[in-house]
Amino acid sequence: MWQADKNRYDSMTYQRCGNSGLQLPAVSLGLWHNFGDDALDQTKLAICRRAFDLGITHFDLANNYGPPPGSAEAAFGRILKQGLSGYRDELIISSKAGYDMWPGPYGEWGSRKYLIASCDQSLKRMGLDYVDIFYSHRFDPNTPLEETMMALDHIVRSGRALYVGISSYNTQRTREAVAILQELKTPCLIHQPSYSMINRWIEDDGLLDTLEDLGIGAIVFSPLAQGMLTDKYLNGIPDNSRAMQGKSLNKDFLNDKNLANIRALHDIAQQRNQSLAQMAIAWVLRDPRVTSALIGASSVSQLENSVAALANRDFSDAELNEIDQYAKDADINIWAASIEK
Ligand SMILES: NC(=O)c1ccc[n+]([C@@H]2O[C@H](COP(=O)([O-])OP(=O)(O)OC[C@H]3O[C@@H](n4cnc5c(N)ncnc54)[C@H](OP(=O)(O)O)[C@@H]3O)[C@@H](O)[C@H]2O)c1
Repeated sequence: MWQADKNRYDSMTYQRCGNSGLQLPAVSLGLWHNFGDDALDQTKLAICRRAFDLGITHFDLANNYGPPPGSAEAAFGRILKQGLSGYRDELIISSKAGYDMWPGPYGEWGSRKYLIASCDQSLKRMGLDYVDIFYSHRFDPNTPLEETMMALDHIVRSGRALYVGISSYNTQRTREAVAILQELKTPCLIHQPSYSMINRWIEDDGLLDTLEDLGIGAIVFSPLAQGMLTDKYLNGIPDNSRAMQGKSLNKDFLNDKNLANIRALHDIAQQRNQSLAQMAIAWVLRDPRVTSALIGASSVSQLENSVAALANRDFSDAELNEIDQYAKDADINIWAASIEK
């Protein structure tokens, strides 16, 4: 049976999630892309094992991750069976429901019917008794927020999850959701918004201030802007890239204006002796209110490169000012619909 590296806790940093008792690794791994049936099982296994060996204790999933939807959770279930499940008490595994998952009126959004059924399906696919965190994946303008939050509360009370979180809720909806959860005595542990040097909506919305005020942690997703904030697209669009797959990274995002800023940021990273990916991760973590940077990786070498960001997390004021000149909104927030409600 596979054994994890004995030194796995030596170099990772763990940060407290808001005012809770839970600590999360500064870098967490998400399985949105690269873990569907279109990717090799061997690569998925190697990435997850290496992540755990590097001290990444948190793996983030959702019902719809694939393709096809559900296949990333099924793949993670197989990975668990191949050794990682022996470390279950050292793992924080999350899942979510909110986006389109199955046909008909009960297969998406925020009803009690959908959330509880979806949580049960996720547990079955991963072969788990419980997930550590279960999220409402997006705000539903047509379901009473009480219903969605009461479903999350039920999911915890029935033993399906240990904690709950919300994803892509704006400040106002966050305050409303958190107030309901407080009343139910199932505190909101964590918020999962998108955030990167070229997608800074949580600063404008005041979400980070709100989370600090409420004592809730933030795990920010797509800190590499789906790969835009790496050296991947500096010289065109490679065949083995997310932009070429025609999924969530629209090729139009890689326009001349955005690429000019990305190249300038790349130069700053080089002056810091970091890859652009490393600087992008260190940059989201510069704010102590960000508990964890939630990254994706299509290979072990990308994962290793990204985790090495933690070796240089400090920025001088001059560096931050220089970064601000190019860290401009690139109009890439494909999750904006959830926060505009
Ligand atoms: N709550 C939500 O609504 C929501 C939405 C989106 C994501 N998420 C979560 O956030 C996680 C991360 O999202 P993401 O995959 O978009 O994150 P990301 O870290 O911004 O992008 C990951 C992609 O960047 C490229 N990459 C990664 N490391 C690299 C490196 N060191 N050098 C060069 N290229 C590198 C790879 O692209 P290639 O594949 O092209 O090689 C990789 O697939 C998801 O898995 C999911 O758990 C949540």
